[in-house]
Amino acid sequence: MEKFVKLIYDDKSFEFPLIKGSQNEKAIDIKNLRKETGLITLDPGYKNSGSCKSEITFLDGEKGVLKYRGYSIEDLAKKSSFLEVSYLLIFGNLPTKDQLSKFKTDIDNESIIDEDLKVILKSFPKSSHPMGILASLTSALTAFNPTALDIKSEDEMYKAIVMIMAKFPILCAWTQRKVKGLPLNYSDISISYIENITKMFFKKPNQEYRNNKIINSAIDKLLILHADHEQNCSTSTVRIVGSSYAGLFASISAGISALWGRLHGGANQAVIEMLENIKADGGDISRYLKKAKDKNDPFRLMGFGHRVYKNFDPRARIIKKTADEVLSKLGIDDPVLDIAKNLEKIALKDSYFVDRKLYPNVDFYSGIIYRALGIPTEMFTVMFALGRLPGWIAQWKEMRENFEPIGRPRQIFIGSVDRDYSSIETR
Ligand code: SDX
Repeated sequence: MEKFVKLIYDDKSFEFPLIKGSQNEKAIDIKNLRKETGLITLDPGYKNSGSCKSEITFLDGEKGVLKYRGYSIEDLAKKSSFLEVSYLLIFGNLPTKDQLSKFKTDIDNESIIDEDLKVILKSFPKSSHPMGILASLTSALTAFNPTALDIKSEDEMYKAIVMIMAKFPILCAWTQRKVKGLPLNYSDISISYIENITKMFFKKPNQEYRNNKIINSAIDKLLILHADHEQNCSTSTVRIVGSSYAGLFASISAGISALWGRLHGGANQAVIEMLENIKADGGDISRYLKKAKDKNDPFRLMGFGHRVYKNFDPRARIIKKTADEVLSKLGIDDPVLDIAKNLEKIALKDSYFVDRKLYPNVDFYSGIIYRALGIPTEMFTVMFALGRLPGWIAQWKEMRENFEPIGRPRQIFIGSVDRDYSSIETR
């Protein structure tokens, strides 16, 4: 039986449907609020507002639960692969052997990029931030693949999906090669999806490439853990840009720009910079905690806090364990990891962080692993984008298939009401 929520306003009573999700989340359906009451809602940062109904990812911030299409992140990180998780997120089910092999073949057939795109890459200064390069190259993909611009059928959707699944990892690898001044590697379809990614990133021009199982497994797991996270800032950007019927590549390019911000995906780079500063300061953690708590100081403890997770970020737990494993397997003793663990221990005993439910998030430990694998700090957010690609695709596809209306929030105007124009001489 449909439930309702009653709103009393202006001595009148209004009823709005109460909707409940499959995980018992409840929402007031206010799509007729303005028509019936003349009121709108105001919710800066959309902290209390749902933008859509979705079947893709569920997270429970209180219980630290994260599931892709109903499968726990712990299970997928342990048993699945990034390509298989990408298929799951995009098409809704774990693939059969044949489905996965066809997906890989279709991706392989698209894993060539027009040589002219290198001209755009070459025009960037080596000092460019990789996220700026990646956002531009991804948007440029539309120019080289115009068929993906106006998707009208399931076939065109599938073709655009395998195209971006094939070309985006190449663009990410080329971005790293550009900033490191190394020659570009092409895709190699004779090896697995993840082996091809690491080979394009790491193959040196002067030696045979040997696939490193530790590196492949660590990156595969990190990409799985970053693959989707429901309606976060960059995914909401991909959805709202796509809602205007902009193409898939252009929408993803916008998502890359949103992810770049230090409060979002850019935090993984900012965490390492912060830990390096603490190390340079002789490991003086208390000074940074004091800065983080000082309202007059814009400094925040990077990698801490989350809009939704108010207990712990399940991804941070898995990544922290993986950091230990990878560094010991690679025989790396990184003092920054010890500083990170120490910082976590001290912060979680500090009432400022405990009272505000600020815990390490996905970005707190991931940079330590990327660094151990030889990925430059300014490339960390590119790795985040590479992981988030299937989530962006899945969310964009769902938005389109549900014929979601164009996103256009309202506002409450608080500016000047009526002003007469005055000539410049009299101002
Ligand atoms: C990601 O949304 C997602 O799902 C994102 C993500 C994904 O997978 O897509 O999980 C990826 O973006 C993870 C978050 C990475 N960002 C950082 O690590 C940057 C540091 N964290 C903060 O900037 C902050 O915690 C946010 C942005 C993550 C969340 O901010 P909110 O939800 O808007 O919370 P808030 O700013 O309202 O903070 C509430 C209080 C405030 O203090 P009071 O005004 O109540 O006294 O907590 C304080 C804040 O000042 N606070 C922090 C803090 N984070 C929040 N104080 C110091 N250091 C911090 N990191």
